Amino acid sequence: MKLTSEKALELLNEARGMAKDDYWIEHSICVGNTAAVIAKALNLDEDMAKTLGYIHDIGKRNGYGPGVIPHGIGGYEYLLNLGYDEDYVSICLTHSYLNNDINCVAGGIPNKDRYKYNFVKDFVKEHEYTILEKLINLCDLMCYKETMTMEKRLINLALRYGVFSNTVYHLTEAQKLKQYFDDMLGYNLYQLFPDIIFN
Ligand SMILES: [Fe+2]
Repeated sequence: MKLTSEKALELLNEARGMAKDDYWIEHSICVGNTAAVIAKALNLDEDMAKTLGYIHDIGKRNGYGPGVIPHGIGGYEYLLNLGYDEDYVSICLTHSYLNNDINCVAGGIPNKDRYKYNFVKDFVKEHEYTILEKLINLCDLMCYKETMTMEKRLINLALRYGVFSNTVYHLTEAQKLKQYFDDMLGYNLYQLFPDIIFN
């Protein structure tokens, strides 16, 4: 089944009040809207970009943090059970990991004991990321509840969660990802967001 940004927004709004806070919903809307701006500049499918951004963290509807099923696999299973196509659902699993590597993630190397670790590791390794999926990975690193530079967001994450053995690896791949889109546009993509100098 296909998914639209309108329906994705409905799914987000249905989830309000379910987790310990709704920060993740404002963040998801920011990711979708930010991705749509860049998609438009690249003549890509804006509504698909927005849709993927809106649903990437949908697994957080069931809560998040220690002792809860990780939001990636949780969101993936939730949307598959609703009958949505893999083209949409895969973003739940792929959005946190750069370079097709489960270890290239913010917040430290994932624990191998976590729910369906091997399935997620293999999925991420074998998945051919579409341009829009790469774009969501970038926009996830450019959004808190509002759009900001990736560098500011990454510094905020490090200050909040600390640095880990894989932090330099993740930062290096994040820089490559932004450069990939800058190169495709032919200019620094921050020019699309003049307000971020105030954030
Ligand atoms: Fe996110």
